[in-house]
Amino acid sequence: MERGPERREGPQRPEGDAPLDDPNLGEIVVSEEQLKERIAALGRQITDDYAGRAPLLVGVLKGAFVFMSDLARAIDLPVEFDFMAVSSYGSATKTSGVVRIVKDLDLDLAGRHVLLVEDIVDSGLTLSYLRKNLKARNPASLEVCALLVRKGRQKRSPSLRYVGFSIPPEFVIGYGLDVDERYRNLPFVCTWAGSVP
Ligand code: IMP
Ligand code: MG
Repeated sequence: MERGPERREGPQRPEGDAPLDDPNLGEIVVSEEQLKERIAALGRQITDDYAGRAPLLVGVLKGAFVFMSDLARAIDLPVEFDFMAVSSYGSATKTSGVVRIVKDLDLDLAGRHVLLVEDIVDSGLTLSYLRKNLKARNPASLEVCALLVRKGRQKRSPSLRYVGFSIPPEFVIGYGLDVDERYRNLPFVCTWAGSVP
């Protein structure tokens, strides 16, 4: 009998509230199961709302790539993809208020139904900058789908059409979110228990 590939030890599914051996990982904020269920529901909602259209998903790199990949596969429509990269944080955990386009889109947005996919809305500064910037490119429509929204941090209501979860005001990692580029591959979202990077 043939042997399958060796199972490698990667991030493990947490048992109880002790996620991994890594002391930097705090409490689970959104579990793998909750992500799965909520993203399936968002996918159904988007499929209904965009029936007869082919939405263009615009992912904000790098944080949104994990969410966007699962979300896209939960949408039962022809979907197009593009990505942009912005920098608003550096490696700090506090927003600087400065948003810079590091990589722009490849596609022309004119006449397209654009759905901007974000990992987390904190102050909302990144989002409000991106919304203005994309709107100026004359899409047929522009909506936002954010996996996470940190409660009570936005000065103005960010008008998000689709939201995965509202989370408490703690710094979180996993499922695309990083600290100094690490932990993006955790299959859940948890708090950061390490020292402030
Ligand atoms: P905002 O401009 O303050 O809304 O910040 C949004 C961006 O900051 C997100 O797209 C993330 O890249 C980053 N960010 C905000 N909060 C967190 C967090 O808790 N963990 C990791 N990255 C975060
Ligand atoms: Mg980041």
